[in-house]
Amino acid sequence: MTNGFPEGFTWGAATASYQVEGAVSEDGRGPSIWDTFAHTPGRIADGTNGDVADDHYHLFAEDIRLLADLGLKAYRFSIAWPRIVPTGSGAANAPGLAFYRRLAETCLEYGVTPYATLYHWDLPQALEDAGGWLVRDTAERFRDYAAITHGELSDVIKHWMTLNEPWCSAFLGYGNGEHAPGRTEGADALKAVHHLLLGHGLTLDAIRAEGGTYGIALNPAPIHAASDSAADRDAARRVDGLRNRMFLEPLLSGAYPADVLADTGMTEWFGAQEGDLPLIAAPLDFIGVNYYCPTTVAAPDGPISTPGPSTQPGSENVVAVDTGLPRTQMGWPIEPRGLRDILVTINKLAPELPLYVTENGSAYPDVLTAEGTVEDDERLDYLQQHVAVCRDLVSEGFPLKGYFAWTLIDNFEWSWGHSRRFGIVYVDYTTQARIVKKSGQWLKDFLS
Ligand code: FCB
Repeated sequence: MTNGFPEGFTWGAATASYQVEGAVSEDGRGPSIWDTFAHTPGRIADGTNGDVADDHYHLFAEDIRLLADLGLKAYRFSIAWPRIVPTGSGAANAPGLAFYRRLAETCLEYGVTPYATLYHWDLPQALEDAGGWLVRDTAERFRDYAAITHGELSDVIKHWMTLNEPWCSAFLGYGNGEHAPGRTEGADALKAVHHLLLGHGLTLDAIRAEGGTYGIALNPAPIHAASDSAADRDAARRVDGLRNRMFLEPLLSGAYPADVLADTGMTEWFGAQEGDLPLIAAPLDFIGVNYYCPTTVAAPDGPISTPGPSTQPGSENVVAVDTGLPRTQMGWPIEPRGLRDILVTINKLAPELPLYVTENGSAYPDVLTAEGTVEDDERLDYLQQHVAVCRDLVSEGFPLKGYFAWTLIDNFEWSWGHSRRFGIVYVDYTTQARIVKKSGQWLKDFLS
């Protein structure tokens, strides 16, 4: 035992390809929806893009050394589909595969176990042009890319996640348009949910092999009703349905929640896809949970007159409510107990299934002092409180197997660009210097 955690507990940090790599035109990489989106004026809060990001494509060995030096034993990174299959379908791009082989081998040299995510949102632009996640073909192309990648790299990468947060891909990508490809398609965003989950199922079926573990990283969260009124409780049911049950139930129980399909007018369309459910519900080796905060919702009286683009098709009138909890720079309320609640919810659906916290972290406006330090006390508090929740669960015998901090290094935070920092290591974007923050130093001391 170390600090209340068993020896086998996995400690890691996570990143995602477009957020850190840069080198967007190198070695045959094709454009992704995030290149297009980030270069569209008005889409990114501070006008930045991922062209250079943390230059991890060139500095990955230094970053992995840093991760190992913090005492972390696992690196969760994502593989950029457009590096492996630049236009989304067809032959593999050998230099792309070679890059991830070098990355994984470098991990192993430092005693760090690689955990690879196959899709952290960088869809090849050519596939978006052909319909993106609203069309079934994308799921099949995903399976083909995943099979190529796994076939080439499964000797050095043993732990695989198919998708990262399909809720974001579907409802931010095709619902409110906050993320690439920036489309606002109303209830059709649910088609994206299905095609993403189908892509997951097809991929699992194609790549699962002896000696590996295979899972998916979701972003479920507790959804509270603002009051006990019937309207607020119904609001919570609707949002819980879209956010949580729409993913957990097909994956773990082989059925979509009927109430969500009815709320969104999608019952008939989903009825025609029922044959895909056995594939989607194929056994998993683990679920990864990305947890940041809970949401409290209310339903003001009556429907709103003109529903705008929303992450809640059919429930556009439901609003998030401030309950007075302290918030991070993202405006996300801090509630460590929510991590326990959501893990317990999943555990009830799948009692034996190993769970990992595959992301957890917070953004604050960090300041690099004249002494060259970053005193991120608020992030440190956040980290300590959430790690304590994990320790309690593990001590109760709960099947929680690991914790990955989001994120190793400050990076391109999607539509927030460089205006939000989540790293336990600070990045000076003018020099690419990496500076371990107080939170990172605490983690190192805690693990040593
Ligand atoms: C998650 C994403 C991750 C990062 C964090 C803050 O939704 O998976 O890439 O942006 O939020």
